[in-house]
Amino acid sequence: MKLLVTGGAGFIGSCFVRTALTEGWAKQVVNFDKLSYAGNLENVAPVAEHAGYQFVHADICDAEAVEKALRDEAPDAIVHFAAESHVDRSIHSPAPVIQTNFNGTFTLLEAARRAKIARFVHVSTDEVYGSIDAPHDADESYPLRASSPYSASKAGSDLLALSYFTTYRLNVSVTRASNNYGPYQFPEKLIPLMISNALEDKPLPVYGDGQQVRDWLYVEDHCRAIRTVLEKGRAGEVYNVGGNCSLPNLEVVQRILRATGKAESLITRVTDRPGHDRRYALTNAKLTGETGWRPQIDFSDGLQATVDWYIRHKAWVERIKSGEYTRFYELNYSGRAG
Ligand code: NAD
Ligand code: DAU
Repeated sequence: MKLLVTGGAGFIGSCFVRTALTEGWAKQVVNFDKLSYAGNLENVAPVAEHAGYQFVHADICDAEAVEKALRDEAPDAIVHFAAESHVDRSIHSPAPVIQTNFNGTFTLLEAARRAKIARFVHVSTDEVYGSIDAPHDADESYPLRASSPYSASKAGSDLLALSYFTTYRLNVSVTRASNNYGPYQFPEKLIPLMISNALEDKPLPVYGDGQQVRDWLYVEDHCRAIRTVLEKGRAGEVYNVGGNCSLPNLEVVQRILRATGKAESLITRVTDRPGHDRRYALTNAKLTGETGWRPQIDFSDGLQATVDWYIRHKAWVERIKSGEYTRFYELNYSGRAG
């Protein structure tokens, strides 16, 4: 199979590209990525010399570039990861989020329709369901109640993707996953930020009371789910992908401190995120029932593997922090203290 993967230099996309090529189930992978602040070719260095790997440096909002890539490469399928993925950035600066996540997805869908691409997987998020009161879990028919510009842009792009099945019979499936963690995650997100701050004895900024609940999914489990949906998912269908691991943020941070051997006094309460969703929760019953997929990595093992990876890859973090990272960090955290 020949795949065109958008956003393959990011956290989850690069895991998907690496595993598809090293496991050998995809013969060729075209990584189509504009290399935003979050895109990093170091993330795909392990497969950069693989005979089946190719990189196209372009923007999904650039219709000509997308059409050219589909014409030149004629992939069997598109797996669409490319996005502005950080909620806090979407709050500070929504325009690029709407542009890439909604307009970029539209550009890609339109090019895929014209090029008669046989299969399209749109990678989305449980955030589209908004905050869910306990004890309920969202299934795929749960109403979309997005809270942030990020989650609204993803909800819009999900509906657009599904409309391309209903209207044009493009063979689209949508996946909605919970919070991913693992190696190569950009250290603006909760787990890698807290690990890298702990390793540097810096304050760990917990938003509000830290009792917000997220479901945690190891990135390799997510990538196996996406492969499963690519190969076995039904057209026009949505599939939730969760890790069966709901935890309050404060507990996640405390576990990181234990895993890094640092003191709880590093925890600093800061002003809450505006519109902060209190609880995400979803059921995997549809994906598991139809395909047998289930998450395999237990949170304790996945977190330890992640901490170990960040300890071994301090230089990778340092290179990120020497770039645009610090400017956003100051914007996001200054004036937020306690
Ligand atoms: P990321 O921010 O780590 O990577 C995004 C990648 O997309 C980068 O390589 C970036 O360069 C690329 N990109 C951004 N804008 C682009 C554009 N206009 N054209 C081409 N490439 C562009 O993101 P991630 O965490 O790996 O998330 C990947 C996808 O998975 C996103 O669609 C996100 O919504 C979804 N998702 C993420 C999570 C999570 O916990 N991280 C959970 C569920 C779903
Ligand atoms: O649920 C899936 C989503 O998970 C994905 O769609 C998004 O792309 C991904 O970024 C993630 O969104 P969150 O907002 O849940 O992730 P983040 O890591 O930014 O925050 C996780 C929780 O931790 C959230 O409740 C906010 C809190 N938090 C985050 C940061 C960065 C803190 O308390 N302090 C922090 O410094």
